[in-house]
Amino acid sequence: MKNLFIVANWKSNMTKIEAKDWLLDFSVGKLPDSLKVIVLPPFTLLDNLNGYIRINDIPIELGSQNVSPFENGAYTGEISATQIAEFASYVLIGHSERRINFNETNEMVNKKIEESVKVGLKPIVCVSNIDQVKDLINGDFIIAYEPLGAIGTGKAEDPLVVSSIVKQIKEQKDLKVIYGGSVNADNLKEYIDILEIEGVLIGGKSLNASSLLSIIKNAI
Ligand code: PGA
Repeated sequence: MKNLFIVANWKSNMTKIEAKDWLLDFSVGKLPDSLKVIVLPPFTLLDNLNGYIRINDIPIELGSQNVSPFENGAYTGEISATQIAEFASYVLIGHSERRINFNETNEMVNKKIEESVKVGLKPIVCVSNIDQVKDLINGDFIIAYEPLGAIGTGKAEDPLVVSSIVKQIKEQKDLKVIYGGSVNADNLKEYIDILEIEGVLIGGKSLNASSLLSIIKNAI
């Protein structure tokens, strides 16, 4: 059985109370070693969730949804890799919502990868086309392929198209690749059965613990 990453991107959702309810609903027991569940909450919840999942031995790892391209210092409003590493082991970088809404460039994406790797955070770097892959620096990270038309639309990309693009991505960078874009419990298998794909990035369907649990169940 190949190793799989199930990455849950909560985006700009969830209050402390809602996250607590989510965790109470997320009764998963033990997961196989081949499956890693990574939750990406907003920064505001990282500390609290980190404490809760450790005390209650919940098989989840945490990541942030963004990171500053700079070190600690005079960068008002930014959160540095060092600060994130206190609570999380992963960091999502270059999501298309950041590239589009916050003008995040390939250069910034690369700086964020560098800052993260420096402190031992594992980057999950989002790309929506092969050109974005070509512009990435070399390094050890996971690539999340997320075609723009599939994100949040309920229209997941044709698995045959995904398979061909992921092959091209791996020719450029010999790294782990996961797929994201309208993944749900019913279509999950179509993506994780693709030889080159090692997991999924889930947005909408991760906001409800029971729908994420159905996805996890189908991945086992
Ligand atoms: P979605 O989001 O699952 O809601 O399509 C995926 C993502 O944006 O990471």
